[in-house]
Amino acid sequence: MKILVATEKPFAPVAVKGIRDVVEAAGHELVLLEKGTKDDLKSAVADVEGLIVRSDKIDKEVFDCAPKLKVVVRAGAGYDNIDLAEATAKGVCVMNTPGQNSNAVAELVFGMLVMACRNYYNGTSGTELKDKTIGIHAYGQVGRNVARIAHGFGMNVVAFDPFVSAEVMEADDVTPVGSVEELYEKSLIVSLHIPANDATRKSVVKSLVERLPKNGILVNTARKEVIDEDSLMEALAERSDLRYLADVKPDAADVMKERFGDRVFFTLKKMGAQTAEANIKAGIAAAEQVVAYLKDGWNKFQVNK
Ligand code: 3PG
Repeated sequence: MKILVATEKPFAPVAVKGIRDVVEAAGHELVLLEKGTKDDLKSAVADVEGLIVRSDKIDKEVFDCAPKLKVVVRAGAGYDNIDLAEATAKGVCVMNTPGQNSNAVAELVFGMLVMACRNYYNGTSGTELKDKTIGIHAYGQVGRNVARIAHGFGMNVVAFDPFVSAEVMEADDVTPVGSVEELYEKSLIVSLHIPANDATRKSVVKSLVERLPKNGILVNTARKEVIDEDSLMEALAERSDLRYLADVKPDAADVMKERFGDRVFFTLKKMGAQTAEANIKAGIAAAEQVVAYLKDGWNKFQVNK
């Protein structure tokens, strides 16, 4: 059978090799489409049974062009790029690879924080992370890695996640807080790890962000969609001490940069999971999952059940 790896943002070559090895060892053929257009993707899916993607948009148009498709694996955590209802309607199994790239994303949180707290290394005196409080907004796989690294910096760690018990957080030496408002009030830095879905879209608003203490920093390595950008800009305009660092460039990036200068920082492309290690782990896990599904319907990480 044919398995397509379609990535607008390519994996490291070493990861592609690992994926190829898994696919070919199982007797399948690997097809690679890197940096392709939507039309390239629509043509490439025409005769494949399996598909591996990253943040690539897999919508009805793509599913309509893929009559033989049985399984899509998103090599990564968030699957908001895939039309799950359409997949289900067409009998296609969709899975993600939870946890495989989470350390890479968590490390970038601190990469951006140290950079901003040292004033982009411009020679002026900055601040340290030690003894500061970081608030983790959603305590999933990335959040847990953020907590682990934060402890290494000597930070206090608090977290809010209505789906994770206090015991789980306390076992990691993380203090649970009872509400999202309390999280922002208690944390000098809030790191966002909520997925983008109907409940979270545009949920990070001025009334929340302005609860941050003086010199507060909001770090977003999750999704741009969870931010209400106009509302965030109002908070940044009213409070000249607040900063916003994002690995997910906002729609209003240019306006924000112009208005707020170095108080905002955006990566050029989503870089959180863009390491060789994360590519290898998520890519190979995705390949193994596609192969296992095609072999005997293995679907442990199916997200459209
Ligand atoms: C994820 O959801 O796994 C991360 O946001 C990484 O996305 P990427 O594979 O597009 O870099």
